[in-house]
Amino acid sequence: MSCTDCPRRYDPTPHTYQGTQQDILVVGEAPGYQEYQRGEPFVGQSGRLLRRAFEYYHIPLDRVAFTNLVSCWPGPGNPKPTARVISSCAAYNLEPLIALAQPRIILAVGSLAIKYFTGKILSVMAYQSTEIERDHHLIRIFSVVHPAAVLRYPATYRVMFLAQIKYVAQYLTDMVQSQIPTALFKLDGK
Ligand code: URA
Repeated sequence: MSCTDCPRRYDPTPHTYQGTQQDILVVGEAPGYQEYQRGEPFVGQSGRLLRRAFEYYHIPLDRVAFTNLVSCWPGPGNPKPTARVISSCAAYNLEPLIALAQPRIILAVGSLAIKYFTGKILSVMAYQSTEIERDHHLIRIFSVVHPAAVLRYPATYRVMFLAQIKYVAQYLTDMVQSQIPTALFKLDGK
């Protein structure tokens, strides 16, 4: 499966992640026009809201990587990517990125991302979290209402959005606290 198998390839320069291991991988749907222009995921209004919410709940941004199910901008009007586009693109971009970043947490942004990871159609308002395995590595999948929906319908989604980010922040804190701080016991450089 390669990028050129995709029936809806639109962007001549799809974003591919270059980073390293991260605790949290944010997986959205597809880049919007601003992301397409800048060649980076989540740099428009939705991304700004997401980053601000992370900062508010003390999730360090340098422990977070951002990507999408689909790497190319879907074109004018941002049509939803089809199952075929998602599967051909994710095999080529998202899955190698998961192998590289080895995240402990994936934050699925919106219901298409939840469906990708769980195989089920679940409401983003009701979904809690599940664990999946990739290369003998357990990853907890959380979800969040798409920030674009929060910006559009704040009265409906704002409270839920913040509660979901807070839930992830709590999980991350518990995860860090349960790790044995070996560096603490290394005295005199030994
Ligand atoms: N919405 C997404 O799902 N992904 C982005 O990168 C930007 C907006």
